[in-house]
Amino acid sequence: MVGRISNVNLADVQAVYAGPGGELWELLMGDQIHVGGEADTVVLAERAGICAASQVLDVCSALGGPARSLARRIGCRVTGLDATPRMVNEAVRRTRKAGLAGRVSFQLGDALALPFPAASFDVVIGQDAWCYVTDKARLISECARVVKPGGIVAFTDWLETGSMNKMEWEAVHSFMVFPYMETLKGYSALITQNGLTVIDAEDLSSDFAAHLDRYLRELRERHRSTLVSNYGPEMVAEVLSGITLWRDAAGRGKVGRGRLIARK
Ligand SMILES: C[S@@+](CC[C@H](N)C(=O)[O-])C[C@H]1O[C@@H](n2cnc3c(N)ncnc32)[C@H](O)[C@@H]1O
Repeated sequence: MVGRISNVNLADVQAVYAGPGGELWELLMGDQIHVGGEADTVVLAERAGICAASQVLDVCSALGGPARSLARRIGCRVTGLDATPRMVNEAVRRTRKAGLAGRVSFQLGDALALPFPAASFDVVIGQDAWCYVTDKARLISECARVVKPGGIVAFTDWLETGSMNKMEWEAVHSFMVFPYMETLKGYSALITQNGLTVIDAEDLSSDFAAHLDRYLRELRERHRSTLVSNYGPEMVAEVLSGITLWRDAAGRGKVGRGRLIARK
């Protein structure tokens, strides 16, 4: 790891998801803003053993698509936590509209200071979002605190998978507004340090470049004109070059994605 982009903080990430960035990622990924969409949520839920009786916390829940999907498919209760007011407000609105407000709720808050007592949840999940969090050690310790003994912490995330020089590292991180990314090994160490046992640490990087390539194609072929009229050609050019940079870094094994499952 080269370091951390010192000037990326929570306010920068909130600005992304309050504005065009949030709209762009929804356009490309849907209301489940992670690689693999609902199918990936189903796999995570299976690996985490989520059942109808589970109380689930989704840390960095964005628009709440995964939370609604879990409640609808499995019947569990889900609390979503996100730091961006636009995301929380949208998640609440869409959940009411879907008739799921009895089982799914959302709270505005910081993943680094989870506003819940210790041992509140059976399962804590996160999907492709913890890469934005500025202190992964504190994040994992917060997740470990709020999960019940015997409970599960299960998440996917975008990872650093190969060595990059300082210029490459800064370009990759600053486009996404990530302060830094963890490695699979780094997350496993943080989990163990917090007294949890890693059940599975899976490298999902093999199709990561293909996913990024698909986002690029869709941007060019389906969304370009809408985006140009909404945000202007410079912004669209910047996004195309940023995603190309990521696709190429993924193709060269420098960035990737993984899934971790741990038991308290
Ligand atoms: C990629 S989206 C999450 C997608 C979501 N997990 C899903 O699968 O639909 C990233 C989200 O993380 C939230 N976020 C970033 N840092 C956060 C923090 N420290 N605390 C809470 N939420 C945070 C952002 O507001 C944004 O909504």
